[in-house]
Amino acid sequence: SPGRARAIAYANVALVKYWGKRDADLNLPDVGSISIALDALWTRTRVELDPALEQDSFELNGQIEAYGSGRVTALLKRMRSIGGSETRSRVFSQNNFPTGAGLASSASGFAALVTAADRAYGLDLSPSRLSELARIGSGSAARSIFGGYVEMHRGELPDGSDSVAEPLAAAADWPLAIVIAVSERGRKSVGSTEGMQRTAQTSPFYSAWVNNQPNDLALARTAIATRDFDALAHVSEASALALHGLAMSARPGLLYFNATTMECLHRIRRLRGRGVAVFFTVDAGPQVKAICAPEAADTVAAALEDVPGVTEILRAGLGSGAVSMDD
Ligand code: DP6
Repeated sequence: SPGRARAIAYANVALVKYWGKRDADLNLPDVGSISIALDALWTRTRVELDPALEQDSFELNGQIEAYGSGRVTALLKRMRSIGGSETRSRVFSQNNFPTGAGLASSASGFAALVTAADRAYGLDLSPSRLSELARIGSGSAARSIFGGYVEMHRGELPDGSDSVAEPLAAAADWPLAIVIAVSERGRKSVGSTEGMQRTAQTSPFYSAWVNNQPNDLALARTAIATRDFDALAHVSEASALALHGLAMSARPGLLYFNATTMECLHRIRRLRGRGVAVFFTVDAGPQVKAICAPEAADTVAAALEDVPGVTEILRAGLGSGAVSMDD
């Protein structure tokens, strides 16, 4: 093994949402999901083996991380056991976007980590195996191994070997743009892991959510295969709203929207009513992600910039899959 390597992986945003687990230790989802990769939001990670180390160390954006390093260490341990190595690593990671602001930093983070560690330990695992390993770090990270349009499979096996992502279409097959309206950056809400657990345990509608998911996955798959923007808009908004309706029905209810979130959703619906090719999605935070045709991105950005409470607009195109390189 080369003993050191680097990787880059991109954030993704789900159009058909993942929410709920059938196994919390392995992060096995109760539902499949479909996402797009974002080229403007990424994590770069360097993994450096050092036989003198007694423990793995993990630095994020130049700071030693105590929080979150448990999942990193557990993943490295698993990868060492695949390769029969005992050598610990130093991990250096950098995000080009704010952590913990509902912008899915764990997805690009764990995808970059397993991709860099795979090369540094000389494992040469398949993308599907890397997806399986990234999933153990964070469910949505399984999707960031691949670029463009990606489907994450629920899987059936208890060991999780079929709970992996798979590419549906490349970014170049159907280029779309993403405009993110940031409000209340950094405000604490209930994290996805805890939010999912609470929802599964207390929402009277959880089984309806799980049972409906195959329909939405089929609609999105067809919309992507046929480049049907309206169909993708309808199923994506339905899935995002169903997720938030479900989360609100947990006890106590989970409220990820703020007033700015809601106003952005109305603006996006109004734009679409005027013929602009745009739709919205929202994850476990107040940020609104508008997905649109590339030629509509300026109009969408201008409309969202204007919403009171929007502090920042981020723009992206579709991203590629995770890539490793020599350090
Ligand atoms: C709302 O992947 O962050 O963004 O598996 O517990 O790490 P864990 O959760 P995570 O959940 C993402 C939830 C979501 C929807 C999605 O990305 O599909």
